[in-house]
Amino acid sequence: MAQMTPATVRLKPLFTRDEIADAVRRIAAAVQRDYDDKNPVLVGVLKGSFIFLADLVRQLEMSLEIDFVRLSSYGAGTQTSGQVRLVQKVERPLKGRHVLVVDDILDSGLTLKFLMDYLARQKPASLRLCVLLVKRGQQYVPITPDYHGLQMDEGFVVGYGLDWDQKYRNLPDICVVEMDGGI
Ligand code: XMP
Repeated sequence: MAQMTPATVRLKPLFTRDEIADAVRRIAAAVQRDYDDKNPVLVGVLKGSFIFLADLVRQLEMSLEIDFVRLSSYGAGTQTSGQVRLVQKVERPLKGRHVLVVDDILDSGLTLKFLMDYLARQKPASLRLCVLLVKRGQQYVPITPDYHGLQMDEGFVVGYGLDWDQKYRNLPDICVVEMDGGI
């Protein structure tokens, strides 16, 4: 499915909905095994994680709670600004809880490192990171997800919750954005 808009943006499929569904199933099996009796709090990182989180939790047959944080680091462009800001905090206390952070993509790692450090200060019983997609070798900071589903090399991707300037989150596949003259 290559799409063309008047602005000569091409979306090149990278992972199909079936590949994504397989990856989510694999992650769910591992999370189920590790958290079965722990009543974890899954903390989704808005907005990008909303589809992944929704698909993931519907495969988990266990008691769990869901909360959200919202961070801002990217503007309208495709490069991280490096400046991370917590726009929305979790609502419930995390002290003593088993916390699993769920996000769409680990790219530079700056945002998630900031978030994991922030959450660690709340003294959860455990704190782990689950991302659907990892950009290989792109992390500026030491951070490794405990669960991940898919890996990619360089490029900016959209779809399955991932946006470019708030667009394309609704695409069922994950696609690389290609623009004439680069992005
Ligand atoms: P970092 O670089 O801090 O990424 O690991 C933080 C957040 O930025 C978003 N992000 C992307 N969004 N396509 C997107 O649509 C991308 O290729 C991409 N890389 C990073 C994403 O929300 C991530 O949580």
